[in-house]
Amino acid sequence: MSVKEVYLNGEYLPVSEATVSIFDRGFTFGDGVYEVIPVYGGRLFRLQQHLDRLQHSLGEIRLLSPLADLEITRVLERLLTNIEGDASIYLQITRGSAPRNHAFPDQVQPTILAYAQDVVYPDQATREAGVNAVCFPDQRWERCDIKSVSLLANVLARQYAHENNAAEAVLFRDGKLTEGAASTLFVVHEGQLLTTANGHSILPGITRELVLELACNHGLSCQQTDITENQVKTADELWLSSSTKEILPIVSLDGEAVGAGVPGPHYHHIIRLYDDFKLKFRNGEVS
Ligand SMILES: Cc1ncc(COP(=O)(O)O)c(C=O)c1O
Repeated sequence: MSVKEVYLNGEYLPVSEATVSIFDRGFTFGDGVYEVIPVYGGRLFRLQQHLDRLQHSLGEIRLLSPLADLEITRVLERLLTNIEGDASIYLQITRGSAPRNHAFPDQVQPTILAYAQDVVYPDQATREAGVNAVCFPDQRWERCDIKSVSLLANVLARQYAHENNAAEAVLFRDGKLTEGAASTLFVVHEGQLLTTANGHSILPGITRELVLELACNHGLSCQQTDITENQVKTADELWLSSSTKEILPIVSLDGEAVGAGVPGPHYHHIIRLYDDFKLKFRNGEVS
């Protein structure tokens, strides 16, 4: 990872000088929200969708943004002047620094942090090989639509995956699929593309929206619905999607082959559509 410059509370600083208080509520309570925004060819991908989701997260935790969307955009664009090629932006806003007390402080200035970092998006070999995943109980809170920095349950799920030679943990709550530890899940079952409906149990993934848009516009029957454990285990194809992983096929789940055990025909179709879209984005033909 190479971070050259950090935006912190109005200043652009080298990493070594960018520090926050030990009383920051992001540190003591996980009281904050964040976004990760992909950058292709120096352009912020699906920026408005990320800013809208950030506003949703902030609104739900009753935290007024210290910067308007336009000001945030200016900050991110300035950070990108340090980056060549593809990257991603990390943006975090916490309630700020105050003596430790659970209830909101009366007077507090939010902490806003952003930086750009190099990212290696999955290469062709990874896409062709696919990845392994494992099942894990969804132990998160009941407001997973908020992109909160309180990620302990996600961390434990991803660590379980890592220790079991898997790239992702597939989470289930009450016998239903929710999502991955840090990704949206898609299931191809009986010719249909299924994904869990948006609501409090999942993050409304920005990549998820694009996958649905592309799939539905190109004749694949899509359903946003409850998905049972059995449907996942008998899926023809399973994919994960996220801003930094794009779309990847899951070829084994808990050591069992998914479908034929190789990336399926629907995956090949969607990734071609996704790459075409990215190319148009790089050329400035779509936003
Ligand atoms: C829990 C969770 N679900 C889904 C996603 C995918 O969201 P996006 O496509 O906006 O990156 C992420 C991304 O980090 C995530 O952490």
